[in-house]
Amino acid sequence: MPHNAARRTEVSAVLAEAVWEPSGEKLRQTMETYERDPGHRLYVRLGDGPEPEVAGVIGLRELAGTVEIRHLAVAPGRRGRGLGWEMVFALPTVCTCLDVVAETDRDAVGFYRRIGFSVESLGEVYPGTERFRCRLRLPEAVAAVASRYDSGTVRDLIVERGRAAGVSGHESVDDFPWEDRLAWVIVGYHRGQPAGYATVCLLPKLDRRKGFIYVDEIWVRPDFRRLGVARAILGCADALAEDGGLAGVRLYVASDNPAAQELYRRAGYTLEPSLFAEKLHCGAGAEAFRWRQD
Ligand SMILES: CC(C)(COP(=O)(O)OP(=O)(O)OC[C@H]1O[C@@H](n2cnc3c(N)ncnc32)[C@H](O)[C@@H]1OP(=O)(O)O)[C@@H](O)C(=O)NCCC(=O)NCCS
Repeated sequence: MPHNAARRTEVSAVLAEAVWEPSGEKLRQTMETYERDPGHRLYVRLGDGPEPEVAGVIGLRELAGTVEIRHLAVAPGRRGRGLGWEMVFALPTVCTCLDVVAETDRDAVGFYRRIGFSVESLGEVYPGTERFRCRLRLPEAVAAVASRYDSGTVRDLIVERGRAAGVSGHESVDDFPWEDRLAWVIVGYHRGQPAGYATVCLLPKLDRRKGFIYVDEIWVRPDFRRLGVARAILGCADALAEDGGLAGVRLYVASDNPAAQELYRRAGYTLEPSLFAEKLHCGAGAEAFRWRQD
């Protein structure tokens, strides 16, 4: 999410972790650059709790066709959980450029190498300090778990889906249990544009399998199909299952939906014939409404 002024001090403290010799004056100038120069943008990764703290920051400058990571920092207490990787690979959710560069020192170069950047030494740029240029081309389609702050994006997708299916007024994102950790919305992006979504939830098991992630009604905007968006959404569902130590991912697919069946087959799912059972309760408007598959 874009950085929020109310959190300025907290953001500045985490940003300081990525500023070389951060004096008060230098930090103030760095923050001001992000606040005033439209070419620079600072994004904040909040923690996952109900009152989330600033867990990480990533500061960018978009140059011709390239996005430069100017600052990348994870709060000391949040390190070692993949947040740095996550912030870099979430860049296609906010940028249209996919070619990423970062200049760094010996301390951080191992991180960039590990997450797939190619690394080139720039030599001893300052006395006694070797610098490195790191480059990576990010995938065009990515997916990420949405937070309450993305609810506008999610609502737009649902409205568009409703329009395509010839229904309107069925969007309802305000009641979604964003902080629950039992249900999530995964949004897929293509070159920075929201392109599709799925709601997923925990399907618990009281045995060694612990549970499954259940993927419900994955949908991709018609103009963004066959670009890997649904594959990216399913990848994100896999990551949720892995993170929770669950047995896998499950979903329902209609027997007359060959496109979706092929998608799941290619993503490694086994498809077993079965009957679908559903009992509608009219309280939530369910009787009046079912998405057509389009
Ligand atoms: C099914 C749907 C989600 C696929 O989304 P998508 O982003 O276009 O899928 P991807 O680009 O990630 O496709 C990944 C792979 O799935 C398979 N696939 C996807 N759509 C396909 C189609 N129409 N025909 C055949 N194979 C298809 C292909 O193997 C594809 O890889 P490839 O393009 O390299 O050949 C999308 O068509 C959609 O939103 N349909 C309407 C809603 C729906 O039916 N949802 C499924 C509910 S179970």
